[in-house]
Amino acid sequence: MRSAKDFFAPLAVGAPAPLREIPARPSRAIHFFDPGNPKMAAKVPDMVGKVDVLLGNLEDAVKAENKETAREGLVTIGQETDFGPTQLWTRINALDSPWVLDDLTTLVRAIGDKLDVIMVPKVQGAEDIHYVDRILAQLEAKAGLDRPILVHAILETARGVANVEEICGASPRMQGLSLGPADLAADRRMKTTRVGGGHPGYLVREDPTDGDIEGARSTHQQDLWHYTISRMVDACAMHGIYPYYGPFGDIADVVACEDQFRNAFLLGCVGAWSLHPKQIAVANKVFSPSVEDVKHARRVIDAMGDGTGAVMLDGKMEDDASVKQCKVMVALAEELAA
Ligand code: GLV
Ligand code: MG
Repeated sequence: MRSAKDFFAPLAVGAPAPLREIPARPSRAIHFFDPGNPKMAAKVPDMVGKVDVLLGNLEDAVKAENKETAREGLVTIGQETDFGPTQLWTRINALDSPWVLDDLTTLVRAIGDKLDVIMVPKVQGAEDIHYVDRILAQLEAKAGLDRPILVHAILETARGVANVEEICGASPRMQGLSLGPADLAADRRMKTTRVGGGHPGYLVREDPTDGDIEGARSTHQQDLWHYTISRMVDACAMHGIYPYYGPFGDIADVVACEDQFRNAFLLGCVGAWSLHPKQIAVANKVFSPSVEDVKHARRVIDAMGDGTGAVMLDGKMEDDASVKQCKVMVALAEELAA
C-alpha cells in the first residue's frame, strides 16, 4: 500500500505532513456530470452515496465557451457538498489546451482537499504524467494538503497505447487507466457506429464449407476493443493500478452496454464510465461479483486447505493457481462490502 510520504517527499516543506494510507476504494461506476449545467449540478447531492465516483467533466462534451463556467461550477459543488463515501474526481482539459493550467491551479487550491483523482485525457507517454505529477506536487505543497491527489490516464491515442506500460509506472500517483474508445477510434482510423461499441460489419462468418452443419453460415459480431483492453489490463496489473472500460454512448441500449461492460469485467477491468444515471446500475451489477461466484470461490478456498496441491470439486480440478483466482473474487466482494 502506498502512503503519503511517497508523494510528498521530493517537495516537502516545513513539518512533514501526517501520513495517510491510500486504501483501494470501489469505483465500479465513474459517473460523469457537467458542473456548468445547473440541472445536472443540482442532482449531485442526491447522488452521493448512490454511486462510487462522481466526476465533474471539464473536457470534451463541454463547449469551449463554457469551460470557465464548468470549472467554477465544480469549485462550488466541491465546496458545498459532503461526498461521504462517494469519491470526487474530475476530468481536466487536455495538456495542450489553453484551459488545463487554470483547471489545475484553480481546482487544487479551491477543492484539493475534496478531490480524490484527476483524470488526464489523451495521455501519450510518461512525460505527460510527470508533468501533471510535478505541478500537483507544487500546488499541493502550496495549499498545505496532507493527502496526495491521484492521477488516472485515459488511453485514447495510438501513441498512448504503444506507451501503456510506461504510463502506468510513471508516478506513484497513478490510480488507473480508462479506455477512451471514441478518440482512440479516430486516432487509429477505426470505424465504429457508437461510442464504446463496435460495428455491425465487424464479424466472423462460419466457414461456408460447413454448409451441411446446422447453424453454419451464421454470423457473430466481434468486439473491436478486445486487444486494447487486454493490453491495458496487463499494464495495470504489472504496476498494481486499476483498468477501466470507458464510455458507452448508446444510452438507450442498456443490453449492449451491459455486454460491453461485462466483457471488460471478465478481462480484468474494475469499473466503467456512466454517462447517464441508468448506466450506474448496469456498472454496479456487472463489476460486483455475483453471490454464486463468491459462494463457489469460498468453497474452492475451503477445499484447498493450505492452498497447495489439487482437489476435485464438481468434476473440475482446482489447484494452487485456480485458488488464486478465487481469492481475487473474494477480496473484491469484501472490498465492496466494507
Ligand atoms: C473518451 O474520452 C473517448 O474518447 O472515448
Ligand atoms: Mg476522449
